[in-house]
Amino acid sequence: MRQTLAFDIYGTLIDTQGIAATLEGWIGERAPVVARAWREKQLEYTFRRGLMGAYADFDTCTEQALRYCCEALGVALEPEQEAELLRRYRQLPAFPDVPPALDGLRADGHRLFAFSNGTKETVSGLLRHAGLEDRFEDVVSVDEIGCFKPDPRVYRHFLQRANVLPVDAWLISGNPFDVIGAQAVGMRTAWFDRAGRGLFDPWGYEPSGTIQGMGELAGMLERG
Ligand code: 2OP
Repeated sequence: MRQTLAFDIYGTLIDTQGIAATLEGWIGERAPVVARAWREKQLEYTFRRGLMGAYADFDTCTEQALRYCCEALGVALEPEQEAELLRRYRQLPAFPDVPPALDGLRADGHRLFAFSNGTKETVSGLLRHAGLEDRFEDVVSVDEIGCFKPDPRVYRHFLQRANVLPVDAWLISGNPFDVIGAQAVGMRTAWFDRAGRGLFDPWGYEPSGTIQGMGELAGMLERG
């Protein structure tokens, strides 16, 4: 049966650790640690801004998180290096299993949406650079309503934009906070546990299904 699929972007289809390769050239083996700290601080900023009602777009959260992490970890970047990092962050790579899986899901008749904290402009550019943009019916950004995941309003906004009932919509995300947020408004959810660690928040929410590779999604959707 045809389903509406909302794909989280950063960390699900797009590899945020991909930025470590650029960093490695400047700071050596600390790059993966700095890239991970940057991602965690970026998300922390979205959560804090959401709680404060002090929205600033995801690009701003990303830039401010980079500044904080460089200061906190003693990474001295030149202004042009910082600009280059932020530019590369808009050109992160897709995970290798993504393009063929998206093609298969479209061939099965499903509706595919990108659904992200990122702004529509930035996410569209990211998908274009990764060669994925034409696989999606649309990009739905939380920026349209000025709040971040996992605020329930963002999932309701997606459902309204896609004109679909929660029971006919899936959220596919590698981020447990995102999966729980979507589950809480009644959407079905596929948790993308790429690391295969099974590390999910003990909040009493269970994803509708768990996958470790994009190729498993088609079968999960068929089983319903
Ligand atoms: C997103 O793409 C932040 O990964 C999250 O919305």
